[in-house]
Amino acid sequence: MISFLLNLSGMTWCDELQAEKEAIEKAHETLTVVRKNFKNTLKQAIAEKGIAGAVPDCQVKAPSLGQGSEQVEIGRTSLKLRNPTNEPRPWVRPLLEEYQKTAFQKQAKHRLIQLGPNHFGYVEPIYVEAVCLNCHGANLKPEVKKEILQLYPKDQATGFKVGDFRGLIWLESRAK
Ligand code: HEC
Repeated sequence: MISFLLNLSGMTWCDELQAEKEAIEKAHETLTVVRKNFKNTLKQAIAEKGIAGAVPDCQVKAPSLGQGSEQVEIGRTSLKLRNPTNEPRPWVRPLLEEYQKTAFQKQAKHRLIQLGPNHFGYVEPIYVEAVCLNCHGANLKPEVKKEILQLYPKDQATGFKVGDFRGLIWLESRAK
């Protein structure tokens, strides 16, 4: 009897781990596509229109999400926002604070959070690269600064260095 019980609970735990692993893989796959599209669009926009002209192109666009039995939402957020509508959802804010405080070497590649039955949140960190400094660094060109402030008068997203934690890309999925 005891071994039967142990066995059962063991199976449940395994199933849960498996489900978690699958959710992480799927979320990671989705966000990898989004990140790649974002970088390509940005690169192309800078090449075609210059930095100031590319200011409206640092946006994440979702591919066709939410097919099948899940409703999937994605977004980007930060503790230093450029666009106030990118404000973190309540479940994301503590994760932002945690990443901000943690030494780079110790930061998790991703985090999965259970938000309810068949409802989870997933995040991956975003770090500053050289190209980002054009619009998020300490010394913006005057025409770039002007363009940004025109579109985002409350901009807080400057002063970053390469390797800084910039924010999180998040995904929230729930059963329909
Ligand atoms: C050409 C200018 C430009 C470049 C280059 C750029 N960004 Fe942005 N970034 C912006 C603008 C404009 C927004 C506001 C977008 C919006 O309205 O959602 C933004 C928003 C963001 C946000 C969302 C949070 C917020 O502050 O609203 C993140 C995260 C971000 N950028 C990261 C990056 C990273 C990482 C890079 C480099 C790979 C980068 N950006 C390069 C202009 C730029």
